[in-house]
Amino acid sequence: MLLKGKNIFITGTNRGIGKAILTECAKNGANVLAHARYENNDFLKFIEQLSLKYNVSITPIFFDMTDINQMRKTVKECMKSNKKIDVLINNAGIAHGGLFQMTPVENIKEIFNVNLFAQMELTQLIIKLMTRNQFGNIINMASISGLDLKSGNSAYGTSKAAIIAWTKVLSKELATYNIRVNAIAPGLSNTNMANLMESKAGEEMIQHSLMKRLGTPEEIANVAVFLASEKSSFVNGQIIRVDGGSI
Ligand SMILES: NC(=O)c1ccc[n+]([C@@H]2O[C@H](COP(=O)([O-])OP(=O)(O)OC[C@H]3O[C@@H](n4cnc5c(N)ncnc54)[C@H](OP(=O)(O)O)[C@@H]3O)[C@@H](O)[C@H]2O)c1
Repeated sequence: MLLKGKNIFITGTNRGIGKAILTECAKNGANVLAHARYENNDFLKFIEQLSLKYNVSITPIFFDMTDINQMRKTVKECMKSNKKIDVLINNAGIAHGGLFQMTPVENIKEIFNVNLFAQMELTQLIIKLMTRNQFGNIINMASISGLDLKSGNSAYGTSKAAIIAWTKVLSKELATYNIRVNAIAPGLSNTNMANLMESKAGEEMIQHSLMKRLGTPEEIANVAVFLASEKSSFVNGQIIRVDGGSI
């Protein structure tokens, strides 16, 4: 029960890594504001069962990350009844691979809108509460693509490199308010995102890992739980690689 009583806001919890983080947070006693893009019955049923199983409160919250007005309205409404958010986990994201010359700048802007600017908007809304409470913890979902910056990564890799740079800057600006900011940089993990990847590029990433396999969403979620907990109370401004070790 590493997170007992903590209030945690997680984006993109309806599938993949976000769903695993939601599950592990609930298992560890956290109350969760669980974001998804759309309201749907499967998701509502899933969170209801999870909440009953672990005796925690899980509140669904819906908005499209690219619809900033909808995000502002929904988050402000939700903050009226949630005066304390201890941890924000910026997880939602979209992937893209392709050589720069074949990638219209419009597409690169779309990737940055979801993977960087929407995260920045949401973080600005939530740090208002965190600075008032003089306590907070922000975890950004980066990627090893943002560290290794291989060919074909002009959109996704650079958006994750920007998240990494922003994480470091933010940790310096917010430490004075007792707010920690870290990022997780997963290697290729077994979610829809990985399944959509071109098989050659995916195989290359698997071979790049010393453990020669995909990560599981739970292996990424376990690191998120550590960062969200007080077990990591002196960890700040760090980018934690979770990729089985790399060559
Ligand atoms: N899987 C990997 O190999 C890997 C490796 C490194 C880093 N990551 C990072 O880990 C995070 C989670 O990835 P994943 O593998 O779990 O991906 P995923 O299975 O594709 O899930 C992505 C999540 O983000 C949400 N999302 C995307 N665009 C959105 C939008 N405009 N508005 C609201 N929600 C939106 C999706 O909602 P919908 O269901 O509505 O689309 C979904 O919940 C991402 O930031 C990703 O870049 C993943």
